[in-house]
Amino acid sequence: MPTMARLGIIGGGQLALKLIDPAHRLGHHATILDPTSKCPASQVAECHVIAQFDDPSAIRELARWCDFLTIEIETVDATTLTALEKTGTIINPTGDTIAVLQDKYVQKSMLAASGVRTPRFSEVWALSDLQAAGEEYGYPFIAKARRGGYDGRGNAVVTSADHCRDVWDRFVGVPLMAEEYISFRAELATIVVRTSRDDLIVYPIVETQQQDNICHKVIAPAAIDPGIAREARTLALNAIRLLRGRGAFGVEMFLSTDNTVFLNEIAPRVHNSGHYTIEACQVSQFEQHIRAVTGMEPGTTVMHEPFAVMVNILGDRNGRAAPQGVEDALALEGVAVHIYGKRETKIARKMGHITVVGSDLNTVLALATEARRRITI
Ligand SMILES: Nc1ncnc2c1ncn2[C@@H]1O[C@H](COP(=O)(O)OP(=O)(O)O)[C@@H](O)[C@H]1O
Ligand SMILES: [Mg+2]
Repeated sequence: MPTMARLGIIGGGQLALKLIDPAHRLGHHATILDPTSKCPASQVAECHVIAQFDDPSAIRELARWCDFLTIEIETVDATTLTALEKTGTIINPTGDTIAVLQDKYVQKSMLAASGVRTPRFSEVWALSDLQAAGEEYGYPFIAKARRGGYDGRGNAVVTSADHCRDVWDRFVGVPLMAEEYISFRAELATIVVRTSRDDLIVYPIVETQQQDNICHKVIAPAAIDPGIAREARTLALNAIRLLRGRGAFGVEMFLSTDNTVFLNEIAPRVHNSGHYTIEACQVSQFEQHIRAVTGMEPGTTVMHEPFAVMVNILGDRNGRAAPQGVEDALALEGVAVHIYGKRETKIARKMGHITVVGSDLNTVLALATEARRRITI
């Protein structure tokens, strides 16, 4: 199997930083494409193409350099990727898959057409479409920018018929969709990987806890009925079966108050909800992705510890990053700290994360919370 492969990664954020670690361990070299010269993965990449993610000529330059091309961010120029695949570049996931997932409306339409359960949703081209969604789904419902949204930026909870106009004005010129609001007991997630053999493998179902639409905490495995976990697993596998391309996919789901599992969205890449796998699994989501996209054999997705908790270290001010308290956090037994090396901190920016594993969930939760309390950035 190929070692010493030249891997190209579009994006140089924390996900690329964590992908390059197992890539190096397996004997590969990595080049990134990212507009920020001091991005997290620039610390470890062999070469760095400094360009926008959707710059066609820069993507072509990266492709010329590498044997295998992959992504860590979905806002890339998918058309150029599809064109490059036709000339023999090996790209995973594929350009057509990325294109479908880039547009939340196209993504949900594809899922719903194949019977994957999603919240009800509709296209929005005019204020009247928002109002019609309110009539149909009731209030609140959610308006979502179809493209480019992340960490909840791009979403608005629409609370009343009057509020429709405010939301419409706020998103002027942005293609939108409307979506039924799901009252959920929990948000669930998992990582599904299409391996180099084209099999699908799946990590445990985890619970993700969002505050202000951004992931704060992940509990692995989710404390849910085994039947519900099986249903979530099947839903995630059925969704990824519809998409081409190898590598990791992050699958976000809702478990509603009446115990129905809905698919929220799919990311064509490694995912924040799978960071815990670095410490909790023999083969992390990152290594699994590297193995899949470089033609190597897959590994196990099983956790080797009963529980893991991951807490994000989000910025709480705007300015130069100054991590403090890392050693105090490390003084707690079993606490792993990851700082991404971003130069600037911003409110709610993902600056690092903490993972704790162990056999007692309450102890693991308490340690993770205390470790997070000790760090400022
Ligand atoms: N239909 C919905 N019902 C209830 N909450 C939702 C719905 N859609 C999104 N949310 C909330 O907003 C968060 C972010 O929405 P999501 O569509 O996943 O966008 P992003 O691309 O920003 O992650 C979700 O994790 C969830 O907490
Ligand atoms: Mg999401």
